[in-house]
Amino acid sequence: MKSPLQLLLFVFCAHLMAQSDYNKFTPGELWLDNNEVHINAHGGGFLFHDEIYYWFGEHKVGGESGNKAMVGVHAYSSKDLYNWKDEGIALKMLADTLSLLQIASVVERPKVIYNKKTQKFVMWFHHELKDQGYKAALTGVTVSDHVTGPYVYINSFRIHPNVFPLNFSEEQFLNAEIIENREDENWKQKVIDGSYFKRDFETGQMSRDMTLFVDDDEIAYHITASEENHTLLISKLSDDYLSLSNEYIRVFPGGRNEAPAIFKKDGKYYMFSSGLTGWKPNPGKLSVSDSMFGNWTFLGNPCKGTDEENNTTFWSQSTYVLPVVGKKDAFIFMADRWLPENHIDGRYIWLPVEFENGIPILKWVDSWDLSFFDN
Ligand code: DGJ
Repeated sequence: MKSPLQLLLFVFCAHLMAQSDYNKFTPGELWLDNNEVHINAHGGGFLFHDEIYYWFGEHKVGGESGNKAMVGVHAYSSKDLYNWKDEGIALKMLADTLSLLQIASVVERPKVIYNKKTQKFVMWFHHELKDQGYKAALTGVTVSDHVTGPYVYINSFRIHPNVFPLNFSEEQFLNAEIIENREDENWKQKVIDGSYFKRDFETGQMSRDMTLFVDDDEIAYHITASEENHTLLISKLSDDYLSLSNEYIRVFPGGRNEAPAIFKKDGKYYMFSSGLTGWKPNPGKLSVSDSMFGNWTFLGNPCKGTDEENNTTFWSQSTYVLPVVGKKDAFIFMADRWLPENHIDGRYIWLPVEFENGIPILKWVDSWDLSFFDN
């Protein structure tokens, strides 16, 4: 028979042993937070601030309708990237049924950046309205004085109404034909020529999968899948990061890119992205440009694995590329292995970005740690 003190000690020790204490990444496995709960931050975005990494992502719920935002955007913090502390809900869905951000609308791929001038944290996300599927195609913006929130909702909107991109002339616009019928045999060419762009010119362009990128000069960019997901739009944010400026470009018209994730190395801008297959994975894509508003060139599939791995991006879809602070040329490719039958159980695929002849590539690694970058 154990004394109450022995029992207490036993419970305490068992608790300590159960505490996750990670020292490596194991892509695709359950990843427990400080409360022993699988991290719930899908389609994530990352921010390094005051020596701490923050992870923001979609808080999913269980079951097939788990993609509806019932709770909001979940935040976690970490000093070492392996062990994550639950910081609670940074952006809460609103009970007010008159608000666009009402509970059960769709909030995807939240990204947070810090504005040094205003000292505010700004979160953008892909927003779809309650019970409207993916029809609305809005980008949403929120702001906070504190990194983990609460973030205050500002607005959600379509982008750049009545504004021409820097790389598309009024003449091209006039020549573009609006597609009446998807059976049209010139359909793809018409998309490239600006068909959907013209259709949405006055009401604003669609904005679905998105990310943010802050350049070394603190200019921030919003990168989003537009024109029925056929074309990416890259836009400069305003100086306070709270709105879009009027400067933007169309990238890869007709190229069908989702899941953009940008990083910069040796003065070049790289973009990982995916194709369009809903929650199912597809071959990864990599592109490069000399500037954010430059000519983006498609480099092909960055995955170097088995055919199955290459055709599915290791069963995942990109969400972010994180530069590891304090290590040279150290970038982590971050992606989601979606689980639409039970969204809350979706897994995280983090892989080191490797370079072959200076070109970023991805290889599967079962288990790895940051010393990978020391070689
Ligand atoms: C793929 C996107 O990348 C996800 O964020 C999500 O929007 C799904 N499509 C929905 O099918």
